[in-house]
Amino acid sequence: MVMELKERNNHFIFSGCDTVKLAQEYGTPLYVISEDIIQERCKEIREAFLDKYSNTKAAYASKAFLTLAMCKIIDREGLGLDVVSGGELYTAIKAGFPTEKIMFHGNNKSWEELEMAVKNDVGRIIVDNLYELEILGEIAKQHQKKVKVLFRVTPGIQGQTHEYIITGQKDSKFGMPLETQKIYEVVEEVMASEYIELTGFHFHLGSQLFENDIYIGAIHVMIQLAQELKEKLGFILTELNTGGGFGIRYTDHDKPKPLHFFTGAIMETVKEQCDKYHLDMPTVIIEPGRWIVGEAGITLYTMGAIKEIPNIRIYASIDGGLPDNPRPALYRAKYDAIVANKTNEAPSMTATIAGKCCESGDILIWDLKIPKIEAGDTLAVLSTGAYNFSMASNYNKLPKPAVVLVKEGKAEVIVERESYENLLDREIVPEYLKK
Ligand code: LLP
Repeated sequence: MVMELKERNNHFIFSGCDTVKLAQEYGTPLYVISEDIIQERCKEIREAFLDKYSNTKAAYASKAFLTLAMCKIIDREGLGLDVVSGGELYTAIKAGFPTEKIMFHGNNKSWEELEMAVKNDVGRIIVDNLYELEILGEIAKQHQKKVKVLFRVTPGIQGQTHEYIITGQKDSKFGMPLETQKIYEVVEEVMASEYIELTGFHFHLGSQLFENDIYIGAIHVMIQLAQELKEKLGFILTELNTGGGFGIRYTDHDKPKPLHFFTGAIMETVKEQCDKYHLDMPTVIIEPGRWIVGEAGITLYTMGAIKEIPNIRIYASIDGGLPDNPRPALYRAKYDAIVANKTNEAPSMTATIAGKCCESGDILIWDLKIPKIEAGDTLAVLSTGAYNFSMASNYNKLPKPAVVLVKEGKAEVIVERESYENLLDREIVPEYLKK
């Protein structure tokens, strides 16, 4: 079991709330996000990183899960925010998130998105490529502002994870490749710019990582670059953003490391390399997403049809699936689940949890060992806090689920369930078809 199971009256209790009652009250599918767990994770970030080392910052990678309420929690917990689109930036601004604590990422930011960031005094823009640098320069000039940027570079380091979520290798759509001559030219050009201030570099190696050696390898590459840039151009590295990617537990197969396993290695390596080259320590930034919110979320479903293919398999269907959680279909991601209204019953059957979409790939969990199930049972799929709500779709015109925030036994809706009317909100029938 992936988390320590709390139960009351044979019901699964999550953040003090009876999940069976949540399902009854708010309907299913239902995303349930625990503020208690997010709070614990943020505390660990402060203890293992922010308070432990001076000159450190942490930004929550909001692509994992972003709502107005989440922005408020992250701000209260003392973290910054990493956004990756105009939509994420808009959400943060609407939530009143302090814009100087926002880092704006993305490999193809538009003029409008960059202008929105400049107008709103976003703290750092992580420049991905030369085209972006050029248009950002023009925007900053038009607005007569000096914009602080980091360059995203690909240090040429490869992580062990799903091929769609590795990003640090040289052959990547993200960041600038470290062709030394080119990087010298760009840094030199920016150092002379009236409107752009380069504070340092950013790399992100991938997601759901369990080892720290690739962070160590990437830092070696980056500090050596900093040393060369100092020697050749007098450039001083003041900020180094080492990205996110810290792995979490989805099933018993995952063995996540404590945060200090990563942050300790990152800080020691930066210090050791800076000492080696007689450089001042830069401010070190991390930007975890999944690690903060992944295990803080569960999704509740109601079981429907249970179909036995004799001697082969039992398919147990739920009232959601691929549209609220595309990760198994996209990445063959594995999940664990429990029958929320039968916590005291031992597993006595093996069932494959099938989503309700017309798509044979819509299987959330293969061969799950569970107690005897029947239609009407509540299924809780665990560790769904990251990249589920944020990647949800309306495939098969299924309305998106509500999101409920739970904390010490209390529940609040933070995103309403979509209605059928909502599904048609933006649809228009041309006049000539109305007859
Ligand atoms: N920083 C940057 C620049 C990133 O691109 C990402 C994630 C993060 C931080 C946060 O990574 P995390 O700490 O959450 O691993 N949809 C995929 C994950 C894509 C991650 C993209 N970038 C999934 O569901 O596994």
